[in-house]
Amino acid sequence: MMTSAAKQFPAAAIILGAGKGTRMKSKHPKVMHKVASLSMIGHVIKAVTQINADKAVVVVGPNMEMVESEVSPHQTVIQHNQAGTGDAVKAALPLMKDFKQGTVLILFGDTPFIQPETLQSMISLREEGNAVVVLGFEADNPTGYGRLISNAEGKLTAIVEQKDASPEELKVNVCNSGVMAIDAEHLEELLLAIDNNNASGEYYLTDVVKLARDRGLDCAVITTDEDQVMGVNSRANLAHAEKVWQEKRRRLAMDEGVTLIDPNTVFFAHDTVIGRDVVIGPNVFFGPKVIVADDVEIKAFSHLEGATVGMAAQIGPYARLRPGAELQEAAFVGNFVEVKNTVMGKGAKASHLTYLGDSEIGAGSNIGAGTITCNYDGFNKAKTILGENVFIGSNSALVAPVTIEKDAMVSAGSVITKDVSAESMAFARSPQKEKEGMATKFRELAKKKKEAAKAAQKKD
Ligand code: UD1
Ligand code: MG
Repeated sequence: MMTSAAKQFPAAAIILGAGKGTRMKSKHPKVMHKVASLSMIGHVIKAVTQINADKAVVVVGPNMEMVESEVSPHQTVIQHNQAGTGDAVKAALPLMKDFKQGTVLILFGDTPFIQPETLQSMISLREEGNAVVVLGFEADNPTGYGRLISNAEGKLTAIVEQKDASPEELKVNVCNSGVMAIDAEHLEELLLAIDNNNASGEYYLTDVVKLARDRGLDCAVITTDEDQVMGVNSRANLAHAEKVWQEKRRRLAMDEGVTLIDPNTVFFAHDTVIGRDVVIGPNVFFGPKVIVADDVEIKAFSHLEGATVGMAAQIGPYARLRPGAELQEAAFVGNFVEVKNTVMGKGAKASHLTYLGDSEIGAGSNIGAGTITCNYDGFNKAKTILGENVFIGSNSALVAPVTIEKDAMVSAGSVITKDVSAESMAFARSPQKEKEGMATKFRELAKKKKEAAKAAQKKD
């Protein structure tokens, strides 16, 4: 949903994510919590990647291997004691030794919606001769945020934290988002000059503004809307962030020619790709890595992740497409059908109550209700391969590895353990027996028994 901005100037990013996020009440680092099926730190990395930054370094706390692998191959550095945002950036300095010209962006890992265009504007303004550019916003409720203090010429002179602000300064409504762009040449000098003489006893990154001014360097502000710099500190914030993101994504989908019957109940992932004239019913969920071509219909209560859906395919209601599901043109997956790691050829159908795993279903094949591919023996997965125009009768079990060649048929209720050759019909069920008149005899016998029981009761 984001357009990538072309890089004009050298830029590096330092992303702060060392905070434990106590208010999340979680065993996982805060920045690993997901919005739109992507970790918050993943969103920030994505924005940084979209501006083609020369490098990105993530500052993590001790024991945050999860974050390290999430951001890999980007480098991480551990901040051992969380002594403030200034201290956190300082921890990254050893990894910035090779980056002395251009702009260093400072970003927060718990502020996931920063847009590449905004970062690009900050870099441009920084390149216009400002040592520091700060991203500000007009807060609905400024309590808790640092305030951006500007002079008569509109130049930024200081950032004052709420705890340290005078009543006059507290009236300022332009708040610090935390995102900054700093001249790489001055980064080290400014950071080393930060002290912790303030109300929190922390090293405030925000002090770089005053320190730059003291050295005769210019600082500037750029502003954005609050939604873009929303920070997440609690599960309620996380839910709000998800809501804001989904609302925006639903609008974009509709703008691009997708029908959402009830937009508020459709959930997209950060990387969902949807074609035109796709119709999505109520209560549909997209996990990561889903691509849907034009003219597809996805009916209510379907769940898709890691799936590729071809033109004019039909899905649901109540369908589940798991990773590796590939539906080719006009394929049909109906209610209570689960498809995993399976290619369904053009026009292939599985209309009801079926599991297709680790399979290839040839074009035009029809899978009857209740068909199960038995792809797992408790140790290994095996493949089921169906040629074109195969017909599988209802309630069949296809025990993999097994191949059913084109134009073959499998009779209903079969347990197929051997390959079936082209154009053959396979029966793999116990043969049916018939006993003439036995139903009538059975009924008469039952009736007599009942009558005898009644007579015995009367005597008693
Ligand atoms: C910070 C800003 C404030 C701004 C606000 C916006 C400072 C001094 N203040 O305040 O002006 O309005 O963000 O949300 O910068 N972190 C570390 N190591 C640390 C401390 C923090 O990595 O030692 C990371 C946190 O994980 C978080 C980010 O830095 O991602 C911000 O830290 P936080 O403590 O939330 O700063 P605020 O007090 O909110
Ligand atoms: Mg904060």
